[in-house]
Amino acid sequence: MRVPQVVPGERLPAEITIYEVGPRDGLQNEQAIVPAEVKAEFVRRLVAAGLRAVEVTSFVHPRWVPQLADAAELIELVDLNIAPRMPVLVPNERGLDRALAAGVREVAIFGSATESFARRNLNQSLDGQFTMFEPVVARARGAGLAVRAYVSMCFGDPWEGDVPLTQVVDVGRRLVELGASQLSLGDTIGVGTPGHVRALIASFAEAGVGVERLAMHFHDTYGQALANALTAMQCGVTTFDASAGGLGGCPYAESATGNLATEDLVWQSQGLGIETGVDLAALVETSVWMAERLGRPSPSRAVQALS
Ligand code: HMG
Ligand code: MG
Repeated sequence: MRVPQVVPGERLPAEITIYEVGPRDGLQNEQAIVPAEVKAEFVRRLVAAGLRAVEVTSFVHPRWVPQLADAAELIELVDLNIAPRMPVLVPNERGLDRALAAGVREVAIFGSATESFARRNLNQSLDGQFTMFEPVVARARGAGLAVRAYVSMCFGDPWEGDVPLTQVVDVGRRLVELGASQLSLGDTIGVGTPGHVRALIASFAEAGVGVERLAMHFHDTYGQALANALTAMQCGVTTFDASAGGLGGCPYAESATGNLATEDLVWQSQGLGIETGVDLAALVETSVWMAERLGRPSPSRAVQALS
């Protein structure tokens, strides 16, 4: 398989961590209901391709996201010890109860930077979301679980338009204060551009939330995901959410398309001499296999070029 010529860049990390969201963000938006056995195989293949953090599923209300209603069944089919991090999404205590019963070791709560999306995605007000998350984080940490927190709509919101940096930082800071160890900044509808990425990371640093706590979560709606990821790397961020084959999108966010494709990020990283630990050929093979199961080609440019 073709590989990029390695020409290192400037002000870039030696290695990055890819936090793979394909089984969760990728599959939550698919029309077809994917059988749990296929999802389990997808997770196993991703880990075999070298991914060390794979978000497996969501313990949300099954009517809100029917695609992931089989979360408990899926966890039974997956060995949670095959990778160091195999988190699941939980919005509330009911979700945490289900996650604890399933034996997971890391959960991710998901907050919104805007009132509109908090209401649509969580059935909560902006402030109400913190009341919902507070006991989730406290109980999860008490049980020895790691807690990651997402902030959605960091770069724009389909109902509210521009989102002030201060509003995003305020929500993120409050999630860190609740006890989240990693904050993933979501461009849910993929509208952000590199200068905006740089400004948001700088605003978090000014508020005392440094790059070591941040992860970036880009959707590729406007083709900006890879440029935004490179910019964030230049700012010192080393954890990037990505989805194998570029699957993804949030069913409650208008115009959200796929995530940054893991293969596109790995190709760029390899060319820059940045270590990801991922076997690109094995990953492409996995995305092609998944695309066959979903009945449509992968939207990832690297997958298309390499397969
Ligand atoms: P609600 O209707 O307000 O829930 O939904 P409720 O607390 O009023 O409870 C109603 C009933 O639901 C109760 O049952 C609960 O037990 C049950 P009843 O007593 O009536 O029989 N229930 C649950 N059942 C199973 N699992 C649960 C659960 N919670 C309540 N966890 C809720 C509130 C938060 C549950 C709902 O809004 C929800 O599930 N939202 C999730 C939406 C979602 O998953 N969106 C996609 C993920 S976010 C995303 O993709 C963005 C991200 O990628 C980052 C980015 O791109 O920006 C992360
Ligand atoms: Mg997302």
